[in-house]
This record gives sequence, structure tokens and C-alpha cells, in this order.
Amino acid sequence: MQSAGKFITIEHAVALILSKTANADDAYPKILEAIGTSLGWQFGALWKEVPGPAVLLRCAEVWCSDERLSGFARESRGTELAPGVGLPGRVWSSGRPHWITDVRADENFPRAHAAIATGLQAAFCFPIRTARGLSGAIELLSDHSRDPDDELLATMETLGSQIGEFAERGRAEVAAREGEARHAGILDSALDCIVTIDDRGRVLEFNAAAEGTFGYRADDIVGLEMVELIVPPSLRDEHRRGFARYLETGDAHLLDQRIEIVGMRADGTEFPVELTITRIALPGPPVFTGFLRDITDRKRTEEDLRASRVRLVGAQDAERSRLERNLHDGAQQRLVSLALALRLLRDQIPEPGREALELLDRAREELGLALDELRELARGIHPAILTERGLGPALEGVVARAPLPVELTAPDGRLPAPIEAAAYYVVCEALVNVAKYASASQAKISLARTDGRLVVEISDDGVGGADAAKGTGLRGLADRVEALDGRLEVESKPAGGTRVRAEIPLG
Ligand SMILES: Nc1ncnc2c1ncn2[C@@H]1O[C@H](COP(=O)(O)OP(=O)(O)OP(=O)(O)O)[C@@H](O)[C@H]1O
Ligand SMILES: [Mg+2]
Repeated sequence: MQSAGKFITIEHAVALILSKTANADDAYPKILEAIGTSLGWQFGALWKEVPGPAVLLRCAEVWCSDERLSGFARESRGTELAPGVGLPGRVWSSGRPHWITDVRADENFPRAHAAIATGLQAAFCFPIRTARGLSGAIELLSDHSRDPDDELLATMETLGSQIGEFAERGRAEVAAREGEARHAGILDSALDCIVTIDDRGRVLEFNAAAEGTFGYRADDIVGLEMVELIVPPSLRDEHRRGFARYLETGDAHLLDQRIEIVGMRADGTEFPVELTITRIALPGPPVFTGFLRDITDRKRTEEDLRASRVRLVGAQDAERSRLERNLHDGAQQRLVSLALALRLLRDQIPEPGREALELLDRAREELGLALDELRELARGIHPAILTERGLGPALEGVVARAPLPVELTAPDGRLPAPIEAAAYYVVCEALVNVAKYASASQAKISLARTDGRLVVEISDDGVGGADAAKGTGLRGLADRVEALDGRLEVESKPAGGTRVRAEIPLG
């Protein structure tokens, strides 16, 4: 190492320049001047690669000790050198410093003419080296002829590496700053709230959308515990426990999942949010980013939809009841009265002829059939027995009329009317489907109350292949069940039978 040698002042001067400048481009003119002045050489130039397909060096910076040399400076600025050509070209191809005692006698010095005109003679040049290779070369010329000085060249080679490292670090910092600016731009233009926290749960980042949604200014809350700010008090402990568990065990079941939770604004009001938490893959302690979205509007729309479904199903049921009542009290009663009148008529005709008797009997038979059909129709529209005696008895009737053996298990007691109606229609539609499509030898119906829900299951041992997309029956059932916050599932594999399962919350 030459730092203890006679050129230590140059090294210090360059180190000082580098420590005071933000980037290499600003430092080069000062470095050329510092080296030239310290050594007593009159001209300095920085050579850099020209961006483009061919490798060419161009003079990017010059320094002259006095005006006399401006002709050579101009000439240098207008010169482009291929690797191996001229002094900088030779340094570029060899990667090593190079010395010319007198450029006037050098075969490979394209600017020799201008050098002669300005009286320049000795020259040396050294590479600026980075970890990725050469990034340029620095050339010095003197108005004397000078013999090579190995110690000087070795010192310059070391300086070249230091300057290169500095330039590289500067580029990396600029890139990092640009990256940060881009990141900040993305954060602030994002529609979602983006909140980043450190491993202690403290806010690192709070983007513009988060400021708008939660009502905090990022500057006021960076460094504070996130939970205290945007999580409602009732959920904070649970949140902290989950976070601590993750840090201790790595149990990450919440990461990268979309979940719905409750958030809290600065004014204490709570609102539904959709949240996805991602762990940022950086070395060091974990950092987490939460993407949050206010879903108040979506929730309201969902609630409106559910309420309108409930209204629709309720209105349907009321209409069915009204029809059934009208049939029962109107047409059915009239037909019953008519049957009575016919019997009276028959009794009152003293000696009816055979033909008249046959006619009367046929009329009474037809009337009986019409009444049966009407009753059946009324039961299909809305079974009176369901309203009067409940699900168990109503389903016993359904099972008794089924065209195949059906095993029924149903709990005693009554349930709220909308739930009884939904369960009844699920069983009826599923059983009609079994009869129509399943070619089953038997079916099972089970109703059970478990965990605050009514679970209704209808299964058969038939051909399977039920598909709600093919008709309206199963889809209508799903709507009816979902209107009560329940769920309908259809499991049906080819040749594996079909199972329709409805779960309806009881309260
Ligand atoms: N138990 C079953 N076994 C075999 N196939 C079934 C069964 N249940 C339903 N399917 C099939 O699924 C389809 C859809 O049934 P869904 O009840 O939704 O409509 P649908 O019965 O065709 O018409 P709709 O009920 O509107 O009168 C049926 O067309 C039938 O092909
Ligand atoms: Mg059907």
C-alpha cells in the first residue's frame, strides 16, 4: 500500500473531495484539479464509455492549469477512442495504468498534434475500477517529459479503485432513493389503505388512502402502536395475542388471506373492513403490510339483498297461504255443498230411472275427484297442516304419499314459521327430484337441531348427477335457505346417490 508514501497528500485530497460531494459526477472536476495541482501536472481528463452498441471512450471532463491548454482540451473533448487506441484506450483494454514519457514520440497517441501545439509531453492514465469492472479512466499530462514513476502509478491505481467504489455507492444510493420514491408514489396512489408495521406492531407506513379512511395523518402516528389506533378496543387483546403467537411460533394462518374484520376511525366510529396481511420478505426483524378496504357499502348492499330476499320469500309464503285459504274456504266449500246438494237431490227423487241414477252417481264421483285434486293442489301450494301442526306431521304426510320407501327422522316441537316452511319445501323439492330423476330404491330424510341450527338432509341411493344449474328447483331452495342466513349443499356423484343438506340458523 502506498498511502504512507510520498503521494499521501493526493490521497488525502481525493478522500476529502469524496467525503464532501454527494455524487461522483460532481467530484470529478475537483479530483482532476487536486491530482494535477499536487503533482504539478497541467492537464487532466476523465474518460468514460459512450452508451451504445460499440465500445467507445469519450472525454467527459477536463481540467487545465491555464488557458494555454484550451486547444488540447477542445481536441480531447471532441475525441472518441476505441479500446486499445490512444492512452485511455490502452488503459481500457489492459485494465492497468499506463505511462508515456513523451507523447510526441508515441506511435499510439491520436491527439499528438494538439499536444505538440500546446507543449504537453509526459502523460499517464489509470482506470476507475468498480466491483463490476471499469467505469472510466483518468488521464494526466505534463508540460515536461517525465520518466515513468511506478510508485505514482500504484498510488493512482489504488485511488482509481476508491473513486470507482464511491461512484458505485452513489449510483446504488440514487437507485435506492428512486426505488423509495416509486414505492411512496405507489403507496399514495393506491386505492386500498396500506399500513405497514414493524415487529413490535408500530406503524412504519400509513398511505394517503389510510389517512382518508381512518382519519389520521401519517406524520402524527408513525411509531405508535397500530392496534391502539385502528382496532376497536374490544378486539385489541385478541389482535395482540395473534400477533405475539405469530412472532413466537410462526403460526401464519392469517397471512395472505382475505378476512373481514372491524376497523375503527380516529373518531372512534367502527366500520367493516376487508384485510389482507402480507409479511414483507426483508432480512432482519419481520415487517408486515396490511391492505385494508372499507367495505361498508358492500356490506350494506349485501344486507339489502338479504333483506329483499327475506321479503320475497315471506311474500311468496303469505301468497301461498292466502291461495290455500281461498281454495279451502271458497271453491272447496262450494264443491262440498254441491256434493251435499246432489245427495239430497238423489234422496228427493221418488223413483229415479236407471239412467238418471247412473248420471247422478257419475256426477258425485266426478265431484269427489275434483275435491281430491283441489285438496292436493291446495296442499302443494301451502299445506294447512304445516301451519296448524308443524313440520313433523306435515312431513309424515309427504312421506306417506311418496312413491318409494322413505325413512323420516324429525324432532318434535315447533320452530319459527319461516324455518318450518323452508325445511318443508327443501324436503318436498328434494323428494320430488328423487322420484323424478334418481331411480332410487329408497330415500332418507333427517331433521335435527344441532348447535343452534336446524340441519335438514335428504339422501337417496340413486343414480346421482344432480346439478342446480340444470333447473330452478334446487336454486330456488338455496335462495330460500340463504334468505334465512342458512346454506344449502348438494352432493351428488354419478352412481353415488344424492344428498341435499340445508343448514338454517335457529335464531
Ligand atoms: N336426486 C337426484 N338424483 C339424480 N338427479 C337429480 C336429483 N335431483 C336433481 N337431479 C338433477 O338435477 C337437475 C336440477 O334439479 P332441479 O330441482 O334444480 O331442477 P328440475 O327438477 O330439473 O326442475 P324444477 O325443479 O325447476 O322443476 C335435474 O334436472 C336433474 O337432472
Ligand atoms: Mg326439481
